[in-house]
Amino acid sequence: MTKDTHLTFRQFMLQEYRKHDVSKDLIFLLEDIATACRTISHKIRSGAFSGTLGATEETNVQGETQKQLDVIANDQFMLHCANCSRVAALVSEELDNVVWLKDEAKAGDYIIYFDPLDGSSNLELNVSVGSIFSIVELKEPISDLTDASVLISGSEQICAGYSLYGPSTSLVVTTGHGVNGFTHLNGTGEFLLTFPDMQVPAETSEYAINASRQRFWEPPVARYVQECLAGEDGPRGRRFNMRWVASMVAEVHRILTRGGVFLYPQDSENADMGGRLRLLYEANPMGFIIEQAGGRASTGTQRIMNVNPDDLHQRVPVILGSRDEVDLIDAYHAEA
Ligand code: AHG
Ligand code: MN
Ligand code: MN
Ligand code: MN
Repeated sequence: MTKDTHLTFRQFMLQEYRKHDVSKDLIFLLEDIATACRTISHKIRSGAFSGTLGATEETNVQGETQKQLDVIANDQFMLHCANCSRVAALVSEELDNVVWLKDEAKAGDYIIYFDPLDGSSNLELNVSVGSIFSIVELKEPISDLTDASVLISGSEQICAGYSLYGPSTSLVVTTGHGVNGFTHLNGTGEFLLTFPDMQVPAETSEYAINASRQRFWEPPVARYVQECLAGEDGPRGRRFNMRWVASMVAEVHRILTRGGVFLYPQDSENADMGGRLRLLYEANPMGFIIEQAGGRASTGTQRIMNVNPDDLHQRVPVILGSRDEVDLIDAYHAEA
């Protein structure tokens, strides 16, 4: 791979500016986010030397023990996102409340929601982890700078993306005109376009779910998985394969590459919380990306991006991926 045969992130984004009028401020912001992700990637890869792969003694707002790299990655996002004068506020998995960067938020300003390090239980294992982000452009000014004023539905996103820290570092982005994947070319500081116009195949024979939670599943999900497990003799008439990385970024990247369906459904143990994954910085951005690639993202009963948020760290059931499978799981919910 060389720089000569692949567009750089900036070259590609300038094409998007000419074709779709993507704002130059957004392009600069995305370049800052790309810098945060490159730095996080480096800090993960050197974590065994610096002794930063393990836990802190702190707990985040959702009761999870923070890893040192959760905090380091959060600091990188805060630092680089603050560079853009249109960013009014930041919302992070690792921060209890909204961080306002301005005294007043104008129409056209950006709110950034991020999961600085996704899959952090995998850090010590040297298994893929990632970062996720979502950007909303304010339609109206906000005078009341409270947490409640950034509870905005995912359908208002103008951009979403993730970086996957795997054998290589990927950056996958949508600005509402399809999904494009870039790979960091080590030693150059550049993300190069390697996976243009990513598409989720409508059909699949692969699903991803934490099967250890089977006894808690809701009946439509239990039925779906049971039918997949029945193989060629069951109602689906074919065999299904199963994967579980325990890093949502890695699962979504696999689905964008070869199809599949990912489920972290509502279950009886998480019933009052709505699920495991967080709406604003996990489910919404991944839902936007999957829809832009031709897939679907549902709670089982509604489109994820139509959920009206009522809390910064609200959790929702997540069922996303290949269209035909998500349609089927929705149909099982409708029948239940
Ligand atoms: P995070 O590390 O940002 O808290 O998110 C972890 C999430 C997600 O990446 C993954 O799909 C899921 O938690 C893994 O859950 P299990 O521990 O049940 O496997
Ligand atoms: Mn976490
Ligand atoms: Mn996460
Ligand atoms: Mn996280």
